[in-house]
Amino acid sequence: MIRKMCGADLDRIAELEQQMFSSPWPRSAFEYELSGNQFAAVYVLEKNGEIIGYVDRWILYDRAEIATIGVCEEYRRQGYAQQLMDRVIADALEAGCENITLEVRVSNDAAIRFYEKNGFITVNTRKNYYEDNGEDAWLMVKPL
Ligand SMILES: CC(C)(COP(=O)(O)OP(=O)(O)OC[C@H]1O[C@@H](n2cnc3c(N)ncnc32)[C@H](O)[C@@H]1OP(=O)(O)O)[C@@H](O)C(=O)NCCC(=O)NCCS
Repeated sequence: MIRKMCGADLDRIAELEQQMFSSPWPRSAFEYELSGNQFAAVYVLEKNGEIIGYVDRWILYDRAEIATIGVCEEYRRQGYAQQLMDRVIADALEAGCENITLEVRVSNDAAIRFYEKNGFITVNTRKNYYEDNGEDAWLMVKPL
C-alpha cells in the first residue's frame, strides 16, 4: 500500500535512510518536507504494516523532481520502487509537468538501471556533487 507520509513515520524513515544511503538525510529534513516544503510530497510504501520504501518528489511548476527514493534491501527487485515511481509519474502528469529530473551517483548502477528502464536519459554531469566522497552526479531527465 502506498500512502502519504505522516509525522508518525519520521523515525522509521530516518532509520531506513541511515541503512540505505551513505549520506543520509537527517530526520529534520523529512520533517521539513512534510510541513515546510509546499512543493514536496513524500509517499511511503507499506508491507504488513511496516514501511519498506519511500519516495520524495517535488512538483516545481512545469517540472517534477525525485529528491530521494529507496527500498529496504531485503525487498529489492520485487517491483516496489516501480510502484513508487508510478505514483510520481502520475502526480507529474496530473500537474501538467513537462519532465521529471533527478540526480544520481555515477556509481549507483542499480538506480541508474532502474531510471533508464523508466525512460530517464542522462543529460549532464555535476562534478564533485556529493560532499561525502566528491563523487560526480548524473542529471537524468524523463520527458513526459
Ligand atoms: C534503486 C532502488 C530504489 C530500486 O528499488 P527496487 O525496489 O529494487 O526496484 P524494482 O524492483 O522496482 O525494479 C524495477 C526495475 O528496475 C531495474 N533494476 C532495479 N534494481 C536493479 C539492479 N540492482 N540491477 C539492474 N536493474 C535493476 C530492473 O529493470 C527492474 O525490473 P526487473 O526486476 O523486472 O528486471 C533500490 O536499489 C534502492 O533502494 N537502492 C538504495 C537507495 C538508492 O540508491 N536510491 C536511489 C538514489 S538516486
